[in-house]
Amino acid sequence: MSNIRPNEQDIAMLHRIFGWHVIPWTDAFCEAVSRLDVTPRTVLEVGASRLSAPSLFFLRRGASVEVTCYAETEAPALTAFCETICQEYGLPVPTIRVHDAFSATERKYDVIILKGVLGGLDRDHNLDVFSKAIERSLGNLSENGRLIILDKGWCSLVHNLLLQRFGDAGGNNWHYFSQKELKSLSSPDNPPQVIWKGFTSAGTMPFKGLQRLTDWLDTRLFNRFLSTKGTVFAALYSGNQAQTGATRSPT
Ligand SMILES: C[S@@+](CC[C@H](N)C(=O)[O-])C[C@H]1O[C@@H](n2cnc3c(N)ncnc32)[C@H](O)[C@@H]1O
Repeated sequence: MSNIRPNEQDIAMLHRIFGWHVIPWTDAFCEAVSRLDVTPRTVLEVGASRLSAPSLFFLRRGASVEVTCYAETEAPALTAFCETICQEYGLPVPTIRVHDAFSATERKYDVIILKGVLGGLDRDHNLDVFSKAIERSLGNLSENGRLIILDKGWCSLVHNLLLQRFGDAGGNNWHYFSQKELKSLSSPDNPPQVIWKGFTSAGTMPFKGLQRLTDWLDTRLFNRFLSTKGTVFAALYSGNQAQTGATRSPT
C-alpha cells in the first residue's frame, strides 16, 4: 500500500503548484497519487510552466525530481518558480531542463507526469499523435513505473461549446479527451485508470465567487456522484507494457 496519499499540508502546497484551476487538478492528482503502489524514487515532469509544476510534490516524499519545459526560453521562469516553491517549503531545488514529449530519455523514471500538455500536442485532434506521445512516455518508464496524464476532459456538448467560446485553450483547438479516447491511446491490455473531477468548474472562472461556488459544488456533490464525467482528469497508465511496446487500441 502506498504511503504517499497527500495530507492537508501537501494539499496547501498542491494548490500553489497547480497554479490555475487548482481545485479540480488537485483533487484528481491526490486520487491518482493515492493509487500508486509504491513511493516513486525518480520523477520526470514534461511540459511544466512558470505557473505550474505538480512534480514538486514528490520532493516532499524524497524523490529525485526532474522538471522540464519544452522551450529553452521557458526555462528561466520555470527555474524561478521552482526555486521560490522550494525555498518556501524547505525542499532541494530539482533539476530543471528542456525535454520534448516525443523524445527518449537517457534514464528511466518511476513516475512521469504530463499536466495540460497532451491535448495541445496536435491541434488537428489526431489520436495517433497523442498515442505516440503516450507510447514514448511509457518507454521512458522504469519497470512498474506509472505515467500520470493530467488534462482537460470532454464533459458534455454544452461544456465544450462554452470552452470553445470562452476558454483560451478551447478557442485554440485544445483536444478534450473522452474516457473512450484515453483507453484507445494505449494497447488494449494496458487500459488507464481514469479519475474525473470538476463538472461545474469548467476552467478558471471569471469571478472568485463563481470559482468558489463551482468548486464547492464539485467537491461536495458532483465529484462524489459522477465518477466518469468531469472537465479535468488524471489518467494513470502502467509502464508494464513499455518493454513490449504499446500500440493503439482500435476506437
Ligand atoms: C497549456 S501549457 C501547460 C503548461 C503547464 N504544464 C501548466 O499546466 O501550466 C502547454 C505546455 O506544453 C508545452 N509543450 C508543447 N509541445 C511540447 C512537446 N512536444 N513536448 C513537451 N512539452 C510541450 C508547451 O511549451 C507549454 O508549456
